[in-house]
Amino acid sequence: MSDTKVIDGKQIAADLRLETKDRVTDFQSKYNKVPTLAVVLVGEDPASQVYVNTKTKMAKEIGMDVEDHFLEKTVTEKELLSLIDQLNKNEKVNGILVQLPLPEHMDSRLIIDAIDPIKDADGFHAINVGRNSIGGDLLKKTFTPCTPLGCYLMLKKVVPDLKGMHAVIIGRSNIVGKPMAQLLLEESCTVTIVHSKTKDIEDMVKQADIVVAAVGRPNMVKSNWVKDGAIVIDVGINRIDHPDKPGKTKLVGDVDYDDVFNVASAITPVPGGVGPMTIACLLKNTVDAAFRQQD
Ligand code: GUN
Repeated sequence: MSDTKVIDGKQIAADLRLETKDRVTDFQSKYNKVPTLAVVLVGEDPASQVYVNTKTKMAKEIGMDVEDHFLEKTVTEKELLSLIDQLNKNEKVNGILVQLPLPEHMDSRLIIDAIDPIKDADGFHAINVGRNSIGGDLLKKTFTPCTPLGCYLMLKKVVPDLKGMHAVIIGRSNIVGKPMAQLLLEESCTVTIVHSKTKDIEDMVKQADIVVAAVGRPNMVKSNWVKDGAIVIDVGINRIDHPDKPGKTKLVGDVDYDDVFNVASAITPVPGGVGPMTIACLLKNTVDAAFRQQD
């Protein structure tokens, strides 16, 4: 399509952060407290460190407080559970985020389910996953995982009424694919999830009005997978060797952007699409949590 719209995640995220900043100010004047996010990072995975530092910087920029807890990779499950217990009880802390993946010796489900659901800024606790799945009025009480929420808010900017559209989600993770499907079902989309064992993935994707790619495979989705005029949301953040600059690397999505640009009606770039939205949604969830804890 010649008039393909580039969905500007950076701008939409900046707008959402401004809205959230106003709510931070409002919270402060009403309750004389600053909304506070506790971030827990276990080990020294460089990608996670960058992610956590960006979250901290952005939160501080809108007047929130952040407590960083950096733990050695060798920390025991018991020690981590004890930290989570302290954060649950600490009235200053409104949101808790445990950065994933955790080291192999830990049971991630056990750790996440130890977070008080009302402080679960990531929306990963089983209670919140259940509420997201049931939908309806329970959505007012839950936290929606930040990446799918960011994708959803961008989609709504392009098409305010998603009713009846066919969304094909590539990837079935608990962090993106499954919660994305719940959100779009709630909007009365027809939803298909495809994954590594799906037969004829390309034919399935080709039927989509909305494609959400979240598999972590660089440039996987090509133009011949995509229906003319489809909206394409690229969740992938993959670092690859730079095709033209030896020794350098480059960030690319799961979608071959230059190729798919020619057929999509709207597409998110990488970087500058889903990434900034994820962080803006985390800040929004933390402020939601702060207000709910006062009720
Ligand atoms: N690892 C990759 N994405 C996420 C996320 O949204 N939250 C957390 N806690 N860890 C992640």
